[in-house]
Amino acid sequence: MVQGKRWVIGKPFEGSLTDANFHLEEFSLPNLNDGEILVEAVYLTVDPYMRMAMISRPAGDTIAGEQVAKVVESKNAEYPVGTHIVTSPGWVTHSISNGEGISKIDPNYPKDLPLSLALGTLGMTGRSAYIGMTEIGQIKAGETVFVSGAAGAVGSVAGQMAKIMGCRVLGSAGSDEKVAYVKELGFDEVFNYNKVKDIDATIKGLAPNGIDVYFDNVGGDFSMMMIKHMRIYGRVVVCGAISEYNLTDPQKYPSIFCHLLFNSIKVHGFTNFHYTQLYPKAIAQLSEWIQKGQLKYREDVTEGFQNMPKAFMALFLGANKGKAIIKM
Ligand SMILES: NC(=O)c1ccc[n+]([C@@H]2O[C@H](COP(=O)([O-])OP(=O)(O)OC[C@H]3O[C@@H](n4cnc5c(N)ncnc54)[C@H](OP(=O)(O)O)[C@@H]3O)[C@@H](O)[C@H]2O)c1
Repeated sequence: MVQGKRWVIGKPFEGSLTDANFHLEEFSLPNLNDGEILVEAVYLTVDPYMRMAMISRPAGDTIAGEQVAKVVESKNAEYPVGTHIVTSPGWVTHSISNGEGISKIDPNYPKDLPLSLALGTLGMTGRSAYIGMTEIGQIKAGETVFVSGAAGAVGSVAGQMAKIMGCRVLGSAGSDEKVAYVKELGFDEVFNYNKVKDIDATIKGLAPNGIDVYFDNVGGDFSMMMIKHMRIYGRVVVCGAISEYNLTDPQKYPSIFCHLLFNSIKVHGFTNFHYTQLYPKAIAQLSEWIQKGQLKYREDVTEGFQNMPKAFMALFLGANKGKAIIKM
């Protein structure tokens, strides 16, 4: 019998998280039935959405999440031992699958790229950037695009895509080091939102004629302020609202409805899981751009399954530098 480890909720998630919200336990996996495979995690991912996914879930529930895993035992001819797959059993070292809801790493996956990218730029975060910029934001060459959370896993891809597609790209990030990195990626203008004295005036200075597409990763006050910089026919792509995920009190924001109305602005939220039909196109395009050297990526790799909570909490402190990945 195989012994696995899993991270479960220690104390239900409310407000900012601490070590007490996480509990590591061992569990036994049963023997395989026909058609099943036993997989072992190789890379796991921590993502901000997990904070929302686990809200109001009780202590003892396994924390949700995706991983790249390797088949270590198989009673399913489709998935021989050694096959790499992407699966979502949560924060666990081992799991059993009957093949439903998992996907093999594409045979065309570039051999020279790390498999961990299947959880980032060539996975959930990359395709979110792609779907947000194309299907939702409908960006066009010559437009001015603003990306908040520009140094993040989604934001860095979103901004580079907009550059590749011929837009003028502006962004904000939380430290000078992140600003320098985003500039290296080719953004036209970036500022440290923790440092500039007047964010409103900074944006006005960078985009005196307004923003066509705002790709929003952060929500909250910052994004409410951004709305009034939108041009006529502007599109707000609501990809994430990380500044709100740990809040416990309801927020009060100034009304934006008149500005939306009189400037014909569209605000469109989206969750990549609702656009699965676009995944193959997204991954093919992102992969091509990486291989041509047009799209760069950065991973923030934490070694060791035991360090998952630390890596997860770091996302909400802005401590990660690139896509947060856990290496087993
Ligand atoms: N719609 C979808 O399908 C989809 C898919 C994936 C992700 N998302 C969302 O997209 C956003 C970015 O995700 P990601 O994976 O790219 O994360 P990430 O950027 O790799 O990590 C989170 C970053 O958010 C910023 N942040 C943390 N707390 C913040 C706060 N209170 N206010 C403003 N910024 C804060 C920090 O960057 P700074 O230091 O620069 O502030 C931090 O490094 C998240 O809101 C996430 O939920 C949505």
